Amino acid sequence: MRQAGRYLPEYRSLRERAGSFLNLCFTPEMATEATLQPIRRFGFDAAILFSDILVVPHALGRTVTFEAGEGPRLAPLDDAAKLNALATDADDAVFAPVYEAVRRVKRALPANVALLGFCGAPWTVATYMVAGRGTPDQAPARLMAYRERDAFARMIDILVAVSSRYLVEQVRAGADAVQIFDTWAGVLPPFEFARWCVEPVRQIIANVRGEVPDAKIIGFPRGAGASLASYVQQVPVNAVTIDWAAEPEFVRERVQSKVAVQGNLDPLVLLAGGAALDRAIDEILENFGQGPFIFNLGHGILPETPIAHVEQTLRRIRNR
Ligand code: CP3
Repeated sequence: MRQAGRYLPEYRSLRERAGSFLNLCFTPEMATEATLQPIRRFGFDAAILFSDILVVPHALGRTVTFEAGEGPRLAPLDDAAKLNALATDADDAVFAPVYEAVRRVKRALPANVALLGFCGAPWTVATYMVAGRGTPDQAPARLMAYRERDAFARMIDILVAVSSRYLVEQVRAGADAVQIFDTWAGVLPPFEFARWCVEPVRQIIANVRGEVPDAKIIGFPRGAGASLASYVQQVPVNAVTIDWAAEPEFVRERVQSKVAVQGNLDPLVLLAGGAALDRAIDEILENFGQGPFIFNLGHGILPETPIAHVEQTLRRIRNR
């Protein structure tokens, strides 16, 4: 997930060599290398393309920068006039190096290692575009969605169209599955969740499967809680990622009975390590190991995470 790599010395040195974060994303040779680093070191079953969800606003002509230690910064879209002036289409040339990285990674990976492409869900991308940054509960976008419903809906429609094309091309370039990250799904009341998370992601999936009928798609409505049940009923994903706070019995009965589940180790227990980590891993395997399941974190790995704890996790899972 987003912070992946920063716990690895080989990533930090590549990142330094790249200069800007976007340069790393848009230089196929370097994005390929960043994608392959964790596979070489740990032998995971799947790789996730090195990129970021904010390349989409960048391709829409928004200014996007990543300041060291500060997270992303965008020129905010903080009134209806600015929202209505947003470009209706992305510059496809911006994405060409991403597709090239997908092709290169696919060629380099062993046949039994899956490659995941991804994009941000329209709601989550919109929260960064409106506020210009991450905020504790993305209040600026929530307010905008109430106050300027039509202008906000226009932006979401644009993101649906661009993200659909972006995912189709990732699949055509060799991604085995694509994940749609809705990191800020959990800050919305149910009615707003249905309108801004469920509906746009449904549309993206319909668009993608219109082009590639058997495209494999994973949804991640982080923090959705009990709304996960309506999510998997209404959004035709092949799998859903659950965060670490998801309630196991509920997930088994209402989610895993319908689609595969991916997750959901607390990134903080991976940081803590020791017996707490072993216990958390065992709990997850007991909770979800009987159904279709992909072991993963419940959100991104923290940069301070010791490499030894990642190794401990793999041993624990694989030696069962
Ligand atoms: O795991 C990977 O490295 C795959 C690539 C990936 C990145 N971002 C690289 C990245 C993926 C899948 C993402 C997704 C992403 N980006 C999300 C959705 C998933 C999630 O984690 O919630 C979001 C919300 C973003 C936006 C974003 N990008 C934020 C908020 C940040 C700052 C993170 C922080 O804690 O400072 C980024 C930066 C970013 N994206 C980094 C990486 C490796 C770190 C930047 C760096 O190396 O300097």
